[in-house]
Amino acid sequence: MSDNLTLPTQQGSTDTPSPEPLLQVEGLTKHFPIYGGFPIKRKVGAVQAVDGVDLTVGVGESVGLVGESGCGKSTTGRLITRLLEPSAGRITYSGQDITHASRRQLAPVRSEIQMIFQDPYSSLNPRQTVGTIIKSPMEVNGINPPGGREAKVRELLELVGLNPEHYNRFPHEFSGGQRQRIGVARALSLNPKLIVADEPVSALDVSIQAQVVNLMQKVQEEMGIAFLFIAHDLAVVRHFSQRLAVMYLGKIVEVGDRDSIYNAPRHPYTHALLSAVPEVEIEDEGPARERIRLSGDVPSPIHPPSGCRFRTRCWKAQDKCATEEPPLVQISGNRPGHLTACHFPEDPTTEPRDEDVILDPALRALESDAEDGPADKK
Ligand SMILES: Nc1ncnc2c1ncn2[C@@H]1O[C@H](COP(=O)(O)OP(=O)(O)OP(=O)(O)O)[C@@H](O)[C@H]1O
Ligand code: SF4
Ligand SMILES: [Mg+2]
Repeated sequence: MSDNLTLPTQQGSTDTPSPEPLLQVEGLTKHFPIYGGFPIKRKVGAVQAVDGVDLTVGVGESVGLVGESGCGKSTTGRLITRLLEPSAGRITYSGQDITHASRRQLAPVRSEIQMIFQDPYSSLNPRQTVGTIIKSPMEVNGINPPGGREAKVRELLELVGLNPEHYNRFPHEFSGGQRQRIGVARALSLNPKLIVADEPVSALDVSIQAQVVNLMQKVQEEMGIAFLFIAHDLAVVRHFSQRLAVMYLGKIVEVGDRDSIYNAPRHPYTHALLSAVPEVEIEDEGPARERIRLSGDVPSPIHPPSGCRFRTRCWKAQDKCATEEPPLVQISGNRPGHLTACHFPEDPTTEPRDEDVILDPALRALESDAEDGPADKK
């Protein structure tokens, strides 16, 4: 057991009214097999890309999924949109189990779940006009909106801030930000209820990012579309997401409402992610956060660390962290619905620490050498 009082609770079971669940993910797992051997190939291991993820997205709710590169965010998004087949777990959409639904069984919900991809350059067919690109999901699904498909495309172009007269232009005639708007228009063409947006602005200039995020926020608020917004840092999703899930090496390590995650984070990894984002002002009048240098890469998902997967980079790690995996629970001091997977959580504060935290033991040794002077002089 954790040294803190833990109150086992179901994710999403909050005292505050939460939207009716649209998407529920339980124990979602994707292990990509690795084959080796000669002359007969056999399974020699697996990339544990996603390992037991629980996540809920309510009707019309925007949820951010945040974590460093390689932690399994895109795989989670692709599992939810059923572009990938899960190894285990359950995906329930609008009360229907779609975990292993066939193409035919998926057809009724296929149009309701759309995806926006990271790269606005490769995700649009360069040989098709914008009109054809936005129209094609309607053609594939046999949808004939009142007034016709072309009128609907022009309406969507206007909605996303593009000139409807540009219907016959090709993607190369648009900037990156405009192309991502085309991607949004395409996703909207089937009146979706859920959009999984996989790092939709990370390929764009910083100056353009806010415009595209604002567009999606407008779509979410005005059209009541739920979003799972994937990002690698907490700055991008700050204003957009009502709830956030922080992911590390295939697992959700902390989840909660926006205020809990930004102003009372408990997991050391969330603290590190917040400190790594200088433009995030935690409190308007509050003190500046200390920087935590989260050095070293995310360990390999082929051989993840035992116990807590974050322990090889955690400044609070103790023996227990290597032997017992911390459960994702509501720990003492957390609001309902704010769950943390940590045996020795941080205080729920954003006050600066007394000293900088240096995570990598080798880096720590180097820095103390530098402070003490060169080793050969000692
Ligand atoms: N088809 C695949 N076969 C084998 N391994 C894969 C496959 N797709 C992803 N992976 C591995 O799964 C892990 C998670 O990848 P994923 O793309 O989901 O991470 P991510 O969080 O989206 O990272 P990024 O921020 O770089 O996009 C990585 O180690 C990746 O190499
Ligand atoms: S369980 Fe241990 S290693 Fe993992 S985050 Fe908490 S203190 Fe760090
Ligand atoms: Mg990704």
